[in-house]
Amino acid sequence: MGFFTVKVALCCVVVLLLGAFSDAQLDNSFYKDTCPKVHSIVREVLRNVSKSDPRILASLIRLHFHDCFVQGCDASILLNNTDTIASEQFALPNNNSIRGLDVVNQIKTAVESACPGIVSCADILALAAEISSVLAHGPDWKVPLGRRDSLTANQTLALQNLPGPTFTLDELKAAFLKQGLNTTDLVALSGAHTIGRAQCRFFVDRLYNFSGTNNPDPTLNTTLLQTLRVICPNGGPGTTLTNLDQTTPDTFDSTYFSNLQSQNGVLQSDQELFSTSGADTIAIVNSFSSNQTLFYENFKASMIKMSIIGVLTGTQGEVRTQCNFVNGASSSFTALATKESTEDGMVSSI
Ligand code: HEM
Ligand SMILES: *[C@@H]1O[C@H](CO)[C@@H](O)[C@H](O)[C@H]1NC(C)=O
Ligand SMILES: *[C@@H]1O[C@H](CO)[C@@H](O)[C@H](O)[C@H]1NC(C)=O
Ligand SMILES: *[C@@H]1O[C@H](CO)[C@@H](O)[C@H](O)[C@H]1NC(C)=O
Ligand SMILES: *[C@@H]1O[C@H](CO)[C@@H](O)[C@H](O)[C@H]1NC(C)=O
Ligand SMILES: *[C@@H]1O[C@H](CO)[C@@H](O)[C@H](O)[C@H]1NC(C)=O
Ligand SMILES: *[C@@H]1O[C@H](CO)[C@@H](O)[C@H](O)[C@H]1NC(C)=O
Ligand SMILES: *[C@@H]1O[C@H](CO)[C@@H](O)[C@H](O)[C@H]1NC(C)=O
Ligand SMILES: *[C@@H]1O[C@H](CO)[C@@H](O)[C@H](O)[C@H]1NC(C)=O
Repeated sequence: MGFFTVKVALCCVVVLLLGAFSDAQLDNSFYKDTCPKVHSIVREVLRNVSKSDPRILASLIRLHFHDCFVQGCDASILLNNTDTIASEQFALPNNNSIRGLDVVNQIKTAVESACPGIVSCADILALAAEISSVLAHGPDWKVPLGRRDSLTANQTLALQNLPGPTFTLDELKAAFLKQGLNTTDLVALSGAHTIGRAQCRFFVDRLYNFSGTNNPDPTLNTTLLQTLRVICPNGGPGTTLTNLDQTTPDTFDSTYFSNLQSQNGVLQSDQELFSTSGADTIAIVNSFSSNQTLFYENFKASMIKMSIIGVLTGTQGEVRTQCNFVNGASSSFTALATKESTEDGMVSSI
């Protein structure tokens, strides 16, 4: 009898430990009973918006990435400036660069009207990334759900953790390793640059004065160099856009990797994966270039791996009602007004 009880207790301890040390608390069917339509609601909004703004699909995949690399996939990137929050949106890698905050709010509004107070903003970001891949004719995957939203953001950490376009391969590997992502994940996830745009300011040094040499980047295809010099004149506006994938700009395919093989990567951080001599990433680029199915399989696995970085679950954090603000602080102004009226209320109730 006693022996049996001990065995049952041990079994429970093991189950609890598994829960604490894996993503066991995230579940593909987390909203099956509480918000069964969430996937189709997100899909409808994105289908609609992407008709007039095809780039939004790229922007939303990137938004999820920039959320996950800063204190985990907790929607911290969505928090606006307030008295107590220094928004990550203004950190250098995000400032005047991330897009889609308004569309996330549009999704949240639609989801709230179907299932109020149920679906976290962090889960909306993860779902929107997967649906964006599908709508761009890329792979689909089952998104683990059940993330909760953070009560904090960290602008300093955003600057520290988000990789920059002039990073060397070693720096890229280190930034990913810090998140538990390995070299295969780095190459597969960089494949997201098969869609979307980049501003001239992020690669203009490659065109005129690479690493202070007064010469262009020798690993940049000379035909592409001429093209990009027209789009981004020396000293011209840094905000002009060009396609990250110059071959099939809005289709989620493997041409990003064949571009790298012909020195047609737009960002230095892209071309580093193929043009760093002796690097272990070259073989991975070659394999993804020659086998799109292999790229898709790896992209799916790496997106799931990225999407569970540092997640809040269970009773951690909260489900925000408005993605840009922690509950009860809908803006610094409202927070102040609430505080004052509470104080009034306290006085009159005494
Ligand atoms: C490996 C390190 C990476 C670096 C250095 C990097 C850097 C950049 C830069 C500089 C841009 C252009 C932003 C602008 O012009 O405003 C960009 C765009 C983009 N990035 Fe990355 N990125 C990296 C990895 C990733 C990953 C892991 C993903 C997603 C899985 C991703 C998805 C995207 C997408 C889809 C765009 C286009 C966004 C749009 O058009 O709005 N990137 N990236
Ligand atoms: C789709 O977009 C149109 C305008 O662009 C809007 O009137 C309509 O409500 C949207 N539908 C959904 C489901 O978001
Ligand atoms: C949050 O900040 C963004 C700019 O970062 C702005 O576009 C948006 O309107 C703000 N949202 C709210 C609800 O104030
Ligand atoms: C963000 O960009 C604005 C210009 O739009 C600039 O005034 C501000 O200083 C930038 N913020 C940071 C933290 O660099
Ligand atoms: C932000 O992250 C940095 C680490 O880069 C840490 O030192 C700091 O305490 C964090 N700030 C907040 C408000 O969490
Ligand atoms: C990266 O991690 C995945 C598992 O997440 C593993 O299958 C793969 O072999 C690893 N790649 C490298 C280069 O270590
Ligand atoms: C090229 O960059 C170097 C180092 O950043 C700088 O000292 C030099 O003035 C630049 N050359 C030109 C022509 O701008
Ligand atoms: C440069 O790109 C073109 C295609 O745009 C390709 O035909 C050529 O082989 C590339 N050159 C090098 C050196 O890879
Ligand atoms: C491409 O990759 C897939 C997925 O790993 C694999 O099943 C298939 O055999 C590969 N195709 C070729 C031609 O190597």
